[in-house]
Amino acid sequence: MKIIVKDNYEDLSVFAASIVADLVKRKPNCVIGFATGSTPIGMYHELARLHKEEGLDFSQVTSFNLDEYLGISIDLEKPYEMDQSYARFMYEELFSRINIKQENINVPYGLAENPDQFCRQYEEKIKSLGGIDMQILGIGGDGHWGFNEPGSSFDSRTRVEKLNSKTIDDNYEAFYKKAGVSKEEMPRYALTMGIGTILETKSALMLVNGEKKADIIQKALEGPLSTEVTASAIQIYKGDATVILDKAAASKLKNI
Ligand code: F6R
Repeated sequence: MKIIVKDNYEDLSVFAASIVADLVKRKPNCVIGFATGSTPIGMYHELARLHKEEGLDFSQVTSFNLDEYLGISIDLEKPYEMDQSYARFMYEELFSRINIKQENINVPYGLAENPDQFCRQYEEKIKSLGGIDMQILGIGGDGHWGFNEPGSSFDSRTRVEKLNSKTIDDNYEAFYKKAGVSKEEMPRYALTMGIGTILETKSALMLVNGEKKADIIQKALEGPLSTEVTASAIQIYKGDATVILDKAAASKLKNI
């Protein structure tokens, strides 16, 4: 695992985007696993700039998002409908800004009639395309990867997961509050790729920024491997893992 510390969020975002851009240039038909949350926004905007100003070409790229709230989604034909889905987030922050093809975009469908069946099919589709070349990851305040809350097993697969109160509080502050949605109205369940699914990806790019993540990323990288901090699974990741932190997030690490 490579651990890289950048001075600030902007440097982290530009550097992370350069790693994704290298993959897209090296393998134009690569499969990328995207994450949502506030952390990758800077990287997504830099990728959009590389597309617009330097012609970075996403026309053959396939994407699979890590997770989505259960019970909300967007109509893919009308991607700009206002709601708090991760699909909408991806359209706003990345997909509408680059030339990825609509038919190559995969986001777990929060309105699936049969969510369990949908999750099985999502896994099958990832496999049928040869697996994910690069998975973008963050870390939740409770140590989650995707929406794999504490207690999720390391061999868990794509499934419905119940969100815990820390995740609901964090996401309320980051997204829902601004949109005028009350905490009571927020979805309590999500669809998420499992830890086992993530561990099968070929490379991982994990982004961590800000002082509020310093304690939890120290636990994930240097603490015991534990399902209490599901992102600690990075310690047993067999592919090529790169963790990029800003100085504030790295401030509690003992070994850099
Ligand atoms: C979302 C996801 C989550 C986030 C995590 C951190 O797709 O995978 O695990 O990475 O909740 O979110 P932010 O970046 O908002 O702190």
